[in-house]
Amino acid sequence: MNETINNLLNRRSIRSYRPEQITDDALNAILESGIYAATSRGREAWYLTAVQNPALLQKIRDAVRDTLRKAGDEKSLAKADDPNFCPFYKAPTLIIVSGNDTPNTRIDCANVCQNMCVAAQSLGLGSCYLAGYIMAFQDPAVAAELKKALQIPEGFNPQFGVCVGYTDEKPAKPERDRTKVKIIK
Ligand SMILES: Cc1cc2nc3c(=O)[nH]c(=O)nc-3n(C[C@H](O)[C@H](O)[C@H](O)COP(=O)(O)O)c2cc1C
Repeated sequence: MNETINNLLNRRSIRSYRPEQITDDALNAILESGIYAATSRGREAWYLTAVQNPALLQKIRDAVRDTLRKAGDEKSLAKADDPNFCPFYKAPTLIIVSGNDTPNTRIDCANVCQNMCVAAQSLGLGSCYLAGYIMAFQDPAVAAELKKALQIPEGFNPQFGVCVGYTDEKPAKPERDRTKVKIIK
């Protein structure tokens, strides 16, 4: 297998990180890999916000907690009350991928995320593709405050994200269902 295929096969969702920050070179390479994803009609219908500011990361985490508390079901409350709960697993970098209202914007954003996860893998870093943390933006007033602090432009809303850092775990490679693959000659 070549290096690219190895990185595609060996990327895993990492849910435990060391606290050290990644280098700026690594961050820039990951972001650059993201914005070279395939994009419908060349629209680049995304906006990437890399957050490394601990206070802002804490705000996002707290907003997710508040949303979980409001949900009120047992599972959500247990998460909200867990002092170690973090929707981005305390990774030191969270890249928020926002989309606008053009058709296929979510697909564009998804492509960015996958590229960034594979780029992180190629740099020896861990990453996790994220959608759950979007609940930080559920309450309109909180969303407006967060979007302002994150400088997300008008017309864009967070769709997915990727957290990145030095991995503190090595998950086993899961099986994939090959009955969902067919070759017809
Ligand atoms: C659209 C999307 C959203 C996801 N959201 C989350 C998330 O919020 N939290 C999380 O821990 N993993 C999330 N994941 C990661 C998946 O759980 C993970 O890719 C899957 O379990 C397969 O494991 P692997 O990535 O290690 O191959 C998401 C993946 C995708 C594609």
